[in-house]
Amino acid sequence: MFNRILVTGGAGFIGSNFIRYVLINFPESFIVNLDLLTYAGSLENIKDLPSQKNYHFVEGDIRDEELVKNLLREHGLNTIVHFAAESHVDRSILGPRAFVQTNIIGTFSLLEAARKVWLDEKKLGDGEVRFHHISTDEVYGTLAPNDSAFEETTPYAPNSPYAASKASSDLLVRSYMHTYGLPTTLTNCTNNYGPYQFPEKLVPLMIMNALEGKDLPIYGDGRQIRDWLYVEDHCTAIWQVLQEGRTGESYCIGGNNQPTNLEIVDTLCAILDELHPNADGKPYALQKKLVTDRPGHDRRYAMKIDKIKNELGWQPKYTLKDGLLKTVQWYLAQKNWIEAIRKEKNYQSWVEKNYTNRTEAEK
Ligand code: NAD
Ligand code: DAU
Repeated sequence: MFNRILVTGGAGFIGSNFIRYVLINFPESFIVNLDLLTYAGSLENIKDLPSQKNYHFVEGDIRDEELVKNLLREHGLNTIVHFAAESHVDRSILGPRAFVQTNIIGTFSLLEAARKVWLDEKKLGDGEVRFHHISTDEVYGTLAPNDSAFEETTPYAPNSPYAASKASSDLLVRSYMHTYGLPTTLTNCTNNYGPYQFPEKLVPLMIMNALEGKDLPIYGDGRQIRDWLYVEDHCTAIWQVLQEGRTGESYCIGGNNQPTNLEIVDTLCAILDELHPNADGKPYALQKKLVTDRPGHDRRYAMKIDKIKNELGWQPKYTLKDGLLKTVQWYLAQKNWIEAIRKEKNYQSWVEKNYTNRTEAEK
C-alpha cells in the first residue's frame, strides 16, 4: 500500500483537505507534510488534524533536494503526493517568475530526489514506490461552446503562465517515468471549492465580499464556464488513483457540471440570502459588478471522467448545489479562521494589487 507519504503543499487548500481525509479514513498511514508556508499555506489549515502520532510537519522548500532526500530516507517514505505549487492564475499574470520557480524547478527537484533515493540508492521499483503529481485541467487550454470536453488524450495548450508552468511540470513527470522508470501517476482536475480555500479564489472571495457589503467583482461578461468539484471528491479520487491507478497513466477528474461564473455567484448569493440575510433585506446579488476581464481568460473548461469512472469506479459524490451549500456553511462558521488568515497573509495588499485598476466593464 502507498501509505508512507510525503505530501508537499499540505498546508494549502487541497493538500490540507487531503491530509485530513487520509488520517481520518486510513489511520494506518504515515504522513510527512513539507510546506514552505507561502502566502497560500497556513498552520491554521492543519490545526485540527485528527492524529499527530502518524503525522509530521516540516517547514521547507520542495526545491531543497537534500532536505527531500533526507525526509525520504529518514522516514522510509514510499509515496510522494505533490500538491505544492503557485496556484492562482491572476498572480501568475502579475508575477510569473514564482510559478516557474516553484512549479517547474520545484517539481524537477522533487523528481531528482525521488530518482536518487528510490531508484539509485534503494533500487525500488514499480509496486514499491509511487510519485503522484497533482495537476489541472488548465493544461488543455480553452474550449469553444461546441467543442467536446477535455480527456486524457487532449493535446496540451496552456494559455496562462500558471497553466504553462503546470504543463511543464506534467511533462517532466512523464519524462522521469519513461526515461528512468520512476513509477508515477498524474491527475488533471477541474476547479475545486470547499473548506480552507484561500479567499483569493472565486468562491471564497464572493462569500466574504458579500458578507462584508463589498462589490462582487465578476471578470468580463461573467459567462466563462468552469467545471466545479467539491474538494472532498478530489481527495477520494486522488487516493483511488494512488492506490489502484495504473503506473505511468494520467486520469482526468471533474464534477460533471458546466455553470457560468455568473451562475456560481448567483447561487452563492441565494444561499447567503437564505442562511444569513442582509440586515437591510437587500439580496446579495445587488452587489455584483462586472469588471475588467482577466488577460487571456480561458472561456470554457469541461472534463470527461470516463477513464477514472470505468477503471476505478470513482465519481463525484456531491452535487454542485450541495457542495456550495456546505462551503457557505463552513465559511459562515469560520470567522476566526478568516481573520487569522487575512492578518497573517497580508491579504489586503493582494486585493488592492488585483482589483484597484479593474474599472467597471461595459454591460
Ligand atoms: P494552494 O495555493 O492553496 O496551496 C499551495 C501550497 O503549496 C501552500 O501551502 C504553499 O505554502 C505550498 N508551497 C508553495 N511553494 C512551495 C515550495 N516551494 N515548497 C513547499 N511548499 C510550497 O493550492 P491548492 O489550490 O491547494 O492547489 C494544490 C495543487 O492542486 C496545485 O498543484 C494546483 O496546481 C492543483 N490544482 C488546484 C485546483 C484548484 O482548483 N485549487 C484544481 C486542480 C489542480
Ligand atoms: O481549473 C482548475 C484551476 O482552477 C486550478 O488549476 C487553479 O489552481 C485554480 O485557481 C482554478 O483556476 P481559475 O482561474 O479557474 O480559478 P479562480 O477561482 O481564480 O477563477 C474562477 C473563475 O472566476 C475564472 O473564470 C475567473 C473568474 N473570477 C475569478 C476571480 C478571483 C472572477 O470573475 N472574479 C474574481 O474576482
